[in-house]
Amino acid sequence: MDHPRYPRPLGLAPLAYGGDYNPEQWPEEVWAEDVRLMGEAGVTMVSVGIFSWALLEPERGVYEFGWLDRLLDLLHAHGIRADLATPTVVPPAWFYRDHPEALPVTREGHRYSFGSRGAICHSSPAYQQAAAAITEQLARRYGSHPAVALWHVHNEYGVPVSDCYCEESAAHFRRWLAERHGTLEELNSAWGTAFWGQRYTCWDDVQPPRLTPTAGNPAQQLDHARFTNDAILANFKRERDLLHRLAPGIPVTTNFMTALSQCQSLDYWAWGREVDLVANDHYLVAEDPRSQINLAMAADLTRSVAGGRPWLLLEHSTGAVNWQPRNLAKRPGELARNSLAHVARGSEGAMFFQWRASRYGAEKFHSAMLPHAGTASRIWREVVALGAELGKLAEIRDSLVRSDAALLWDWESWWAQRLEWRPSVDLDARERADAWYAATWDAHLTVDFAHPEAELGRYPLVVAPALYLTTEAAGRNLHQYVAGGGTLVVSCFSGIVDEHDTVHPGPHPGALRDVLGLTVEEFAPLPAGRGVTLEAVGGGPVLAAEGGSALPGGDGSVLPGGDGSVLHADAWTEFVVPDGAEVLYRYADGPAAGQPAVTRHALGAGHAYYVSARLDAAGLARIVELAAADAGLTLPRLPRDLEVVERAAADGRRYLFAVNHADSDAVLPLTAPGTELLTGAAVSGSVTVPAGGTRVVRY
Ligand code: GAL
Repeated sequence: MDHPRYPRPLGLAPLAYGGDYNPEQWPEEVWAEDVRLMGEAGVTMVSVGIFSWALLEPERGVYEFGWLDRLLDLLHAHGIRADLATPTVVPPAWFYRDHPEALPVTREGHRYSFGSRGAICHSSPAYQQAAAAITEQLARRYGSHPAVALWHVHNEYGVPVSDCYCEESAAHFRRWLAERHGTLEELNSAWGTAFWGQRYTCWDDVQPPRLTPTAGNPAQQLDHARFTNDAILANFKRERDLLHRLAPGIPVTTNFMTALSQCQSLDYWAWGREVDLVANDHYLVAEDPRSQINLAMAADLTRSVAGGRPWLLLEHSTGAVNWQPRNLAKRPGELARNSLAHVARGSEGAMFFQWRASRYGAEKFHSAMLPHAGTASRIWREVVALGAELGKLAEIRDSLVRSDAALLWDWESWWAQRLEWRPSVDLDARERADAWYAATWDAHLTVDFAHPEAELGRYPLVVAPALYLTTEAAGRNLHQYVAGGGTLVVSCFSGIVDEHDTVHPGPHPGALRDVLGLTVEEFAPLPAGRGVTLEAVGGGPVLAAEGGSALPGGDGSVLPGGDGSVLHADAWTEFVVPDGAEVLYRYADGPAAGQPAVTRHALGAGHAYYVSARLDAAGLARIVELAAADAGLTLPRLPRDLEVVERAAADGRRYLFAVNHADSDAVLPLTAPGTELLTGAAVSGSVTVPAGGTRVVRY
């Protein structure tokens, strides 16, 4: 395993521990107490200045840096590093007084107003100039301040608003289109404007996909999604380049939201290449009883957009958030479990929103490291305990997560699939990505995410949960991967269209016909609430190690998979015609009764599975089990809710993280003796992970 370089926050030796710190909401007397308590909690870094533009520049060109000078000096005096933000997510009221046109406009033509945050038209030259000006001031003033460890550009680009449909954005969109397509003829061809008489003869007639009476042009909408990502990324790069030039040596980041439920408008594959250090924010969906899976998925996706390198969790919560319908408190121990699960999956620390709970404003009911209840609180005690635990894990820095398999993910394909007028509203790309990820999590596989055109040769198993848009290059890549000995699993409604949302020539799935050894003659979505049964052909595929089900849990439970002779699906089926692929399961009922449902194609040295239905969790578990066996992966026999991930250091040391999400203790067998870092105990044979607890074994 190679150990690519990545920049740490400057001068930060331990793991990062801390949170967003908004001292401007408090009188300065409180700051002294803050830094004292930060010391008690083991805080090593705080994020400051994220929303401070109006305080730093109270009128255009008038700067008040005194309070930030004093704050950074205070942090430095207490050995706390600063993740210093450019405050460009909230331009001040005076800016909009002069430039109301910089407020974004919705697709319906409504303009947002000032009074919240993130109301930015990213194509606005006035915004770009003002953002550059304040960034330059900060870079010049603090570029050599000894507290500054990291630049935090903006905040969560892409949320809460990403797209803008104003005239300035429309002009910018046309320039972007001219660059992408060259000529109007090319644009007409890419957008398929022969359909519904949409042909353009003049660039000025081309508009962003504003409100239309019925379905708009899908290729136009897809290009607009790409344009929006590029326009926002250009603004990040402008600030980053200024910081690199004026304050060299300090790494630059911005906080992503890779959880697919949290930011939908950015292509983080592109963003991951532009930041010095990948950082992410993650918030649990509190009512999800297995929210640890969504957390793990976001962490794996973050690590993957970081190219496998370490990354940093810049925000999560100590307890309840305030913006979900029902903001459930975290259970005792959950705060530490969440933090350590992120660290297990490659984060170099755990940061929170926020340090001290706000008394006013929209987020006063959001949890914090220091809650309204003060230090006489469970949350504070857990925060102090976690600080001590992270202090014991500093040596894991720079180690890399070891993965078993890859899941393919492409934001562009997701943007395309979720446009209107698809064969069924019930087949959702994100739902399938979540479901297949959960199946690998349940199988105790550690997965990376990969772009469908990425080099895949190092993965024995690759799963494509939702690849509606598949370029020819991706199709060739997957063919080469399988022919070279890989095991590929492709889920339904993949390989259908090219980058312009145009159906590939010939029968579906055009880009994947050859690798899968089949065609799809017709889609057969199901009525709402209707399910189908799939039955194994000829007694069913048998696993080498199989004597019935392959996956008894270490706790004696049987993982969802049953004996695999019958599977269940809903929402989606297809009429599949094999052309070289063998049939593993047929539809027992439903519109395609008697027809192939799940196939396996032997190609070169590898195998390609096709799953033509929306399988339930047990069905997915079965397919993962079969494909893993083909891929030569041995699935560990572990309790279902014991999350086990390994990080490996360049010197050969390994760190085995075991996070127990269950209410009873779990036993993790060890392949070698080692030291448990949180307790300092020597361990061999096995380690007991207490109910709700975490163990980290170095060996
Ligand atoms: C994040 C944001 C923070 C805070 C937090 C609350 O998305 O970056 O500023 O609003 O949500 O959960």
